[in-house]
Amino acid sequence: MSLLSDARNIRSKDPAATSLAEVILLYPGFHALLFYRVSHWLYRHRRFFLARTVSQWGRGFTGIEIHPGATIGPGLFIDHGSGVVIGETAEIGRNCTIYHQVTLGGTGKDHGKRHPTLGDNVLVGAGAKVLGPVVIGSNTRIAAGSVVLQNLPCNCTAAGVPAAVVRLDGERIRPSDDLNQRDIPDVVHSHLEDLERRLRRLEHRE
Ligand SMILES: CC(C)(COP(=O)(O)OP(=O)(O)OC[C@H]1O[C@@H](n2cnc3c(N)ncnc32)[C@H](O)[C@@H]1OP(=O)(O)O)[C@@H](O)C(=O)NCCC(=O)NCCS
Repeated sequence: MSLLSDARNIRSKDPAATSLAEVILLYPGFHALLFYRVSHWLYRHRRFFLARTVSQWGRGFTGIEIHPGATIGPGLFIDHGSGVVIGETAEIGRNCTIYHQVTLGGTGKDHGKRHPTLGDNVLVGAGAKVLGPVVIGSNTRIAAGSVVLQNLPCNCTAAGVPAAVVRLDGERIRPSDDLNQRDIPDVVHSHLEDLERRLRRLEHRE
């Protein structure tokens, strides 16, 4: 995806953006993607030190820290941005939105893959922390200020510390509701369905 598409995407998603020039010249979320694309290219070509150097320049310039090893799909919108941290093994699907002060980080307990995986169209609200190699299903919203430590299914809203599912497929779920053990969302199944959908899309593209 070209830098121009990044800028157009941000312009279309932010009602406060009045022109493409404003996005290109003034939006830290756009600048962070620019630094990321260069540092990720260097990382993929095993120029690790240079990749980290560019990434740290990006952090200094934008306040957004994206490790060059992170995998980011097209259409990411980082709004405001300041304080965002995205770890080395984090994976972000298509068309996700991340607000300021969000961490996609590790718990310190895992090795290898230790950062979250977000599906497509995931929204992570301001200040939310998503920690560990958890999988967040597509179309899921993480409320501002939440701390997510477990997998979340597709099409849900999660809120709180630690985060719990408060809405699933548009239906409200209240903690006070009688817990129906049989119909608890099957996170693994939902993630497999999501992967299947993404695979079908890729096959279709070829
Ligand atoms: C979660 C969010 C995306 C709304 O998603 P939604 O699916 O429309 O969810 P609802 O608004 O119906 O809320 C569902 C429940 O979660 C609660 N909730 C919503 N946001 C919450 C939050 N940040 N923390 C705790 N609970 C929250 C609601 O009160 C509601 O509870 P109820 O069912 O007891 O009434 C939105 O509240 C949010 O946090 N957006 C982040 C936006 C942001 O960071 N903006 C910064 C701009 S500068």
